Amino acid sequence: MRILLLASAFNSLTQRVHAELRDLGHPVAVELALRDDQQLTEAVRRHAPGLVIAPMLTTAVPEEVWSTHPCLIVHPGPPGDRGPSSLDRAVQEGRDRWGVTVLQAVAEMDAGPVWASADFPLPPDIGKSDLYRGELADAALQAVLLAVDRFASGTYTPVTPPTHTWQPYLTQDERRIDWHADPTTTVLRKLRAADSQPGVLDTFQGTEWYLHGGHPEPHLKGTPGELLATQHGAICRATTDGAVWIAELRPRRVPGGPATFKLPATQALLKGRGAVTCAAPPRGREEPPTTRTQNTTGGSYSDITYEEQGTVGHLTFRFPGGAMNTDQCRRLLTAYRHARTRPTDVIVLGAKRDFFSNGIHLNLIEAAPDPAAESLANIEAIDDLVEEVLTTTDRLVIAALPGNAAAGGAMLALAADEVWCRRGAVLNPHYRLMGLYGSEYWTYTLPRKVGPAVAARLTEDALPLTAACAHSLGLVDQVIDCAPSEFADEITRMADRLARSTSLPARLGAKKAARERDEAVRPLSAYRAAELERMRAVFDDPAAPYHALRSAFVRKRRPNGTPDHLRTECPNGG
Ligand code: COA
Repeated sequence: MRILLLASAFNSLTQRVHAELRDLGHPVAVELALRDDQQLTEAVRRHAPGLVIAPMLTTAVPEEVWSTHPCLIVHPGPPGDRGPSSLDRAVQEGRDRWGVTVLQAVAEMDAGPVWASADFPLPPDIGKSDLYRGELADAALQAVLLAVDRFASGTYTPVTPPTHTWQPYLTQDERRIDWHADPTTTVLRKLRAADSQPGVLDTFQGTEWYLHGGHPEPHLKGTPGELLATQHGAICRATTDGAVWIAELRPRRVPGGPATFKLPATQALLKGRGAVTCAAPPRGREEPPTTRTQNTTGGSYSDITYEEQGTVGHLTFRFPGGAMNTDQCRRLLTAYRHARTRPTDVIVLGAKRDFFSNGIHLNLIEAAPDPAAESLANIEAIDDLVEEVLTTTDRLVIAALPGNAAAGGAMLALAADEVWCRRGAVLNPHYRLMGLYGSEYWTYTLPRKVGPAVAARLTEDALPLTAACAHSLGLVDQVIDCAPSEFADEITRMADRLARSTSLPARLGAKKAARERDEAVRPLSAYRAAELERMRAVFDDPAAPYHALRSAFVRKRRPNGTPDHLRTECPNGG
């Protein structure tokens, strides 16, 4: 069936719907709802789809569209729930289950008959956008695919729920943290309900900021609202009964002023005020290195941890938005080098939930006094990490992807011996949309995995892939069919089995020999130099599209129109 996706942005859920429908053989095109209703109606008429699906639409479908084409809307709430802040409210209210509904567009928003729905758990300690890309996305795909089947059958009659409840937009007044009254659990709920957008508006050190990301601090206490510590870019603020870590800040936009964007909290404070003043010197819990666990960050807010189970070393990282800045890449490299000194057979490199990596940190580059120099520093830092992985010949390295990976982040995974990927992850192994040639030794690793022809197609098409499609192409070695919260345990079990396998010594021997052969044909340094030459030319050219694309990306500027590669109907991804 020819399907048109209508979306406010080609966001993660729209990408996943796009990729999964293509895997099922449906020709799929995308039209972004950016312009006025008449132009959108005209675009839909031109596409002449058999079915319109709106995975993420923040505006109403024009009547001329829903009255002439079957239109299915994905609503992030259970049947009968209506309104623009459904998931935000569910997280803020501390619910433990929620739902997603595929309903038919009618005149009243979210009030149409239901084609399919699915429910899912809301783990208490997870932020909204992580849930949106994880549990909600899994449930949404289940409901969308069922709705498509039901629609295709021609025999199903959608059901109108007996009652509807309209929940209004969750305002900043309702999100506001009362630092002198709210206990830690309430503060965390508010932060998580607003993570990663829109953030919680707060006045701090005389400036209005949106606060993004919330993690509990187990030890520190202080005067409520006060800044107690900083660690790896995050700030720790006291609550009435403890403290929380806030990873990122975004200044409130001045009316008529330029759009603002998120930065690691300490950098944002430094940029905004020239100083970060703590009530007490930064403190944290130091854990001595042991064979069992080493906290590689030396503090209670850790974005990188290393743990050993048997002869498997698990090097875990979690960076907001999957973006890896220069400092994070260098710290991860240090931690990886430490992991290489340990008596293990296997290193698992990855995240426990959500993003694996989206490559270099475009926001910090944009905010840097010299973005070209910072781009290069960030690329060199991620290249150093990739090189260390590629030259690890004395043990196996597994890249564990619980969620999405893109650009240099996807290529980082390919440096490992095997890529283990959760079924719900979406991969974007290309750089073209950011105007970059690409680095991270991708010219070595991508063709090595999929062959030169497929590598050329993937980088040129610049389309998202499901884990299953990536597996069929050879990019992914194992697809793990599990819920987001089960991924880490499943990886631990699989890695343990691998470490015990009797074929491991032979595999390591073959790996070392292959690396030596490849190095003799063309050294890794030659791949790196050639990639960096192309990247430097882009960084140093102020007229190169990369600079404008980066600026638009970090400020979330809407494109003028639907990009051509999305508007064209795409057949099967594999
Ligand atoms: N640098 C900084 N922030 C990044 C980022 C990067 N490389 N990649 C993603 N993010 C942020 C996004 O701005 C977004 O922030 P928000 O939560 O405040 O909205 C968040 O991470 C999630 O990204 P989003 O774009 O909403 O996710 P998505 O799943 O809809 O789309 C991508 C995923 C990968 C297609 C898109 O994020 C992207 O194109 N990223 C840039 C990749 C890139 O070019 N990297 C540089 C070259 S190595």
